Amino acid sequence: MTRPDDQDMRGTLREAGKPWVHLAPDYEKARAREDSLDRLVEWPAQREILGDVSGRSVLDLGCGNGGKLVVLVHDGAVASIGVDISGNFVADRPPGLELINGDLSDLAAIPELAQRKFDRILFLQSFGYTPDPVRTLREAKSLLKDDGYILLTRTQPIRYALERAEENSTSLGEEYFSGTTFSYRSGWNERIALTKRSYTVSDLLNIFSAAGLWIETAAEPQLSEDAGRRHPHKLAWMNKYLGIIIFKLRSLDQTKE
Ligand SMILES: C[S@@+](CC[C@H](N)C(=O)[O-])C[C@H]1O[C@@H](n2cnc3c(N)ncnc32)[C@H](O)[C@@H]1O
Repeated sequence: MTRPDDQDMRGTLREAGKPWVHLAPDYEKARAREDSLDRLVEWPAQREILGDVSGRSVLDLGCGNGGKLVVLVHDGAVASIGVDISGNFVADRPPGLELINGDLSDLAAIPELAQRKFDRILFLQSFGYTPDPVRTLREAKSLLKDDGYILLTRTQPIRYALERAEENSTSLGEEYFSGTTFSYRSGWNERIALTKRSYTVSDLLNIFSAAGLWIETAAEPQLSEDAGRRHPHKLAWMNKYLGIIIFKLRSLDQTKE
């Protein structure tokens, strides 16, 4: 479904990745902290779903500094590529890993991806930066091997709706269903604002469907009891804002074989 102001929103969202050129080092610093939710909840859950990656090629879109790909290559992944707009990459890269400065919203423009196919394609907290999510997923799908899958994670949309409802003195429902773009200051660097388009869970499901993908698994990872005891402020945050949703997506074309 196209909303009347889709054109304007895409223009705004085309710029959405730009702050990352400055934000990336702060994000990585925060991610490396012992109490970061990426370390405590997100990466362990993402890694568990990926399972045995021996001999598998991985394409990580919006890969940050590439640190997660380094782990996967050490765990046996091969011929893997990370793409990120920030260009803020780890210096120490194992053989079999290439990190490229590029835009995930225009995969056809990245020469290193031409003629390539991957076993796993990752969008880990990066999918919100494409102005045209269906097009981006279709492009990613075209880079998947026949039995490959996409692992895509997004922040629970309730989190943004709740934050905006508190900020604007509105209600959860008004913000959740608003369909507008909004800017917010991430906790990684208060001086840098990020722009997102508000979305609902139905929006996500419809995007997957329009791109010709089906959901094999969805997960909403939580803090372990032990981690919650060690980091009560993170438990309080998770109890309020819920965390992320993880989707394992496969091409509908696979089922036709
Ligand atoms: C929240 S971070 C997630 C990083 C990493 N995937 C992780 O899980 O730690 C979002 C990443 O998306 C990248 N990004 C934002 N817009 C992008 C774009 N248009 N193309 C490629 N990368 C982009 C940012 O530079 C940043 O590294």
